[in-house]
Amino acid sequence: MSQSIIELRNVFYQIMEGDKERVLLNRINYSFEEGAITTISGPSGSGKTTLLYALSGLIDNVEGDIVVSGENVNALSRKDKDKYRLNNIGMVFQNLNLFSFMNVKENILVPLYLQNKKVTKELEKQLDDYLMLLNLGHIQDKAIPTLSGGEQQRVAILRALICNPKVVLCDEPTASLDHANAEVFMQTLTEIKKATGTSFIIATHDDYVYRYGEHRLRMIDGSVVES
Ligand SMILES: Nc1ncnc2c1ncn2[C@@H]1O[C@H](COP(=O)(O)OP(=O)(O)O)[C@@H](O)[C@H]1O
Ligand SMILES: [Mg+2]
Repeated sequence: MSQSIIELRNVFYQIMEGDKERVLLNRINYSFEEGAITTISGPSGSGKTTLLYALSGLIDNVEGDIVVSGENVNALSRKDKDKYRLNNIGMVFQNLNLFSFMNVKENILVPLYLQNKKVTKELEKQLDDYLMLLNLGHIQDKAIPTLSGGEQQRVAILRALICNPKVVLCDEPTASLDHANAEVFMQTLTEIKKATGTSFIIATHDDYVYRYGEHRLRMIDGSVVES
């Protein structure tokens, strides 16, 4: 039996649109496998981004259980959800949210600043290893706007990895990349997975990325179906 990294039990989320309820997550039950790449596709508006937000503890008023290492993180206070996210989850979004007034290395270290963690010798060493693995060593002092799309994407993934999260959530990570860069991105991600055992959950429109998933889900109107 494979271990699950995040288990969803009856996860339900609805919003009010005017005076009508609209269901965005419709009683989802699913176990994400630890150490695997799980990909999620589905029509625009089907709830993929909402699901990733729920997994990361970013939205309140979600019903059901989101169980991580035996703990229902959905029952935590807002403050503890934020702590959970910082300690356990790395995130990569389509608009990468890199800070253009910081260089590459500074961007990567942002999650540590948020946690008031010191940049130890060990961490410097790990950062150097990652910079080599992702072929970013030669540009670590460069300004973000001077980088290519592929380079910016690799900075974003490295920032997501720097706190050794259990899970990395990616929302349309290749949307701004051409196919060659999307291939490099997925190969790099697979190497990281092998080297670190990190689990990846990726929402994507890109069929090439979708087929990378060891487990593949489709979302339709807030429901999840395995395919
Ligand atoms: N807080 C919110 N308020 C209003 N509408 C929302 C909110 N969050 C998501 N939505 C809407 O819910 C639907 C599902 O969104 P989303 O999760 O972004 O789908 P996907 O990522 O699959 O395209 C979209 O129509 C979106 O506009
Ligand atoms: Mg989306």
